[in-house]
Amino acid sequence: MALERVKGLFPEMEVDRYFVSAVLCGSVTAILMSRWVSQRRVQKKLEEAKRRRELGFQQMEKAVRQFKQQNPGIKAVPVLSLPLVELTAKLKDGALSPESVLYIYIEKALEVTQQINCVTDFLPECEEQLRELKKQEKGLLYGVPVSIKENIACKGHPNTMGLVKYLDRLEPEDSVIVKVLKKQGAIPFVRTNTSQGILNIDCGNTLFGQTLNPFNHKKTSGGSSGGEAALVGGGGSVIGIGTDVAASIRVPCGFCGICGFKPTGYRLSVKGTTSPIDGMNSVTNVTGPVARDMDSLVLCMKALLCDELFRLDPAVPPLPFNDEIYTSSRPLRIGYYDGDGYFQPSPSMRRAVQETRKLLQEAGHTLISFTPPRIDFLVDELFTKGISADGCSTLVEKFDGEFVDATWTNQLRCCKMPCLLKRLLSLILMPVFPRISRHLNSLIGVGSVKNLWKNNADQMAYRDEFIAEWQKLKLDVVLCPALGPAFNLGYAGKLFVATTYTHLYNVLNFPAGVVPVTTVSEADEKELRHYKGHYGDLWDKRLKEAVQDAVGLPVAVQCVALPWQEELCLRFMKEVETLSHEGRGRRKI
Ligand SMILES: *[C@@H]1O[C@H](CO)[C@@H](O)[C@H](O)[C@H]1NC(C)=O
Ligand SMILES: *[C@@H]1O[C@H](CO)[C@@H](O)[C@H](O)[C@H]1NC(C)=O
Repeated sequence: MALERVKGLFPEMEVDRYFVSAVLCGSVTAILMSRWVSQRRVQKKLEEAKRRRELGFQQMEKAVRQFKQQNPGIKAVPVLSLPLVELTAKLKDGALSPESVLYIYIEKALEVTQQINCVTDFLPECEEQLRELKKQEKGLLYGVPVSIKENIACKGHPNTMGLVKYLDRLEPEDSVIVKVLKKQGAIPFVRTNTSQGILNIDCGNTLFGQTLNPFNHKKTSGGSSGGEAALVGGGGSVIGIGTDVAASIRVPCGFCGICGFKPTGYRLSVKGTTSPIDGMNSVTNVTGPVARDMDSLVLCMKALLCDELFRLDPAVPPLPFNDEIYTSSRPLRIGYYDGDGYFQPSPSMRRAVQETRKLLQEAGHTLISFTPPRIDFLVDELFTKGISADGCSTLVEKFDGEFVDATWTNQLRCCKMPCLLKRLLSLILMPVFPRISRHLNSLIGVGSVKNLWKNNADQMAYRDEFIAEWQKLKLDVVLCPALGPAFNLGYAGKLFVATTYTHLYNVLNFPAGVVPVTTVSEADEKELRHYKGHYGDLWDKRLKEAVQDAVGLPVAVQCVALPWQEELCLRFMKEVETLSHEGRGRRKI
């Protein structure tokens, strides 16, 4: 029958069984061949990218060598240990030259990246900028080398996000944030690794590999701004710029023991940053600074909030840094919570909040218990459904024809499932694993424009409810946990959902930052053995395994303020930093 029909298609040809078999075999071979060819192409591109990166490293080495030959006897250690504020002072009064600082940091960044793999690109144009700098007025960051996350445009380099398909797409222009940094005299000198496709809290991709935690190489740096956090945490950069749509500044900074700040969306420009889900407006993404201490973060914010920023990106409200709010010492009303009810915090996360709460109380602030409303609704309906409103199709497309990094396979598998399967699995899992069931259901997306609008309206209503609760208690700021300690390798990619503590404030669009306050103790580790989680499901089990074996690793807390209250949030973070340093000092005595 079928053969007859095929014969009809080719009237002039001798069609028999052999012919059909030959055609079938031919087609299969052609498909396999074309897959092989495209895989080879990706492979070649990967190799080329690796070569390019090696070349960059060689350029760095050469530049350092030359500088050292011309300037023998320059000591790196005293420069590397200078906090940003002192470094800028010395650069301004000429005690240090921009050249020496730049080459010292290039050398250190190379050393750090050889250990933990955090630098993706050298920016050779930094040497040219050294010369330009002499003609320019001395800005707030005069002569300061800065590192930039790989999805923030630097002219002539690609924003790949670890995806091979973007390797040849060179950015025609610097991003606004990079332009402003340069205007202030800063020198972008390296770009740093991200998780593949950004939306992941690990930091691995097939292009550049896995970034490790500077304190413990069995742990991840966290992501997606993991290269930044690891480089700054490892001492290879004084200040860096990352992006954050769920956790991407705060989680890696917490994991790597440094400070990181996510401003309100649009307080800083995102022009020239790249996202794998462009046009997703349900959850706000931002750019923000990461640094070893709060004074550095604040100086960076002051430098960025300048007329040049407002001129280059008129979508940014022209609000310069308000020093009066930042320097005020008025006692604060501080709301706090040590668990969000979705993921039970690890023992050290909870202890970090409780100890900080006590220090703040002793310092004369008023602390009030606060509970974020309807957390399940926030996580499943607003965050997960918001960022996968299209049923994950845009994101999945970005991975087409790519080698998928091991840190992504799990997440991508869930995203890729057909809607029907997601729905079916969600139904089956409902009675046993309600949380995972709801998550799968959210990955289906919203379905229609009408539903998207409803989702947006729900988000507004949630925000109003949250603010009403906040105002009823007359709060100035909120203290809460930051995810930690750093995860063992292989876990972060399977626990993107554990960003609940941070992504809440992306959905709400409140400024929030993390400050390291303590380290994991033996007692925390012991207590972790009894960790069950709120649900006792696969995720709780994973989280417990992920944070194990972390004695001595840093743990942070998160500080939050209402929208546009960046200065208040930073003041609060600074106070937490000061108190926790003093507290640690006291305990040592
Ligand atoms: C970037 O991260 C990926 C994935 O974690 C890792 O494989 C790669 O080595 C890292 N590369 C760099 C340059 O940090
Ligand atoms: C942030 O959002 C803007 C607007 O949707 C988008 O153009 C940009 O690519 C996003 N950047 C990141 C890093 O997510």
